[in-house]
Amino acid sequence: MVSVRKMQSSDVEQASKITRETMLDCWERYEKNYYPKRALDFDISMHSPEHYRDFLKVETNFTFIVEENSEIAGIVQAVIVGESGLVRLNWIGVHPAHQNKGLGRTLLEKAIAYSSEKSCHKITLYTLPVLIPALNLYLKCGFVPEAYLRKEWWGVDFIKMSKWLQSV
Ligand SMILES: CC(C)(COP(=O)(O)OP(=O)(O)OC[C@H]1O[C@@H](n2cnc3c(N)ncnc32)[C@H](O)[C@@H]1OP(=O)(O)O)[C@@H](O)C(=O)NCCC(=O)NCCS
Repeated sequence: MVSVRKMQSSDVEQASKITRETMLDCWERYEKNYYPKRALDFDISMHSPEHYRDFLKVETNFTFIVEENSEIAGIVQAVIVGESGLVRLNWIGVHPAHQNKGLGRTLLEKAIAYSSEKSCHKITLYTLPVLIPALNLYLKCGFVPEAYLRKEWWGVDFIKMSKWLQSV
């Protein structure tokens, strides 16, 4: 059974572990020849249990976790930028053991619905041209490429993708 809920402080250790394993697997399979290892290490450090705990304290941030049979399978994390109506999606990941079962789409649709409920007009994110599963997921959910960012972070190209929302 699949369910989505807000992350609680009691989830941070497990959620951080899931993210770390997801990032490592994704780097091995898609990013190894593109994204520097030190960039991966930095990203993992930003998803420590302590960072997740601090992130939960900010009311305008949100993190949803998806569970499969009561096991944390993935997370989506985003920042609502003040009162601007812009949502910056920081991270979405589904653990490799749970991928290709619709959980990524479930998480992203939850983030979109929640952003609409909060009357936000736009969700934006940064991704890499080599992340084929993620690019496909974003396109499927109505995101469009908004900018190609040449040598943005870590000297590699990023793609900024966005979706414009109608608030509910
Ligand atoms: C991207 C990710 C979250 C997708 O999660 P998932 O649960 O496996 O995806 P879903 O089963 O919900 O699939 C939704 C859509 O994503 C795309 N997709 C997912 N896996 C794919 C793959 N291996 N190859 C190509 N497209 C893929 C497809 O368009 C799919 O729709 P379809 O099933 O109708 O074809 C997951 O692959 C992941 O965690 N990747 C590593 C982390 C990552 O890249 N995060 C984004 C950083 S910017």
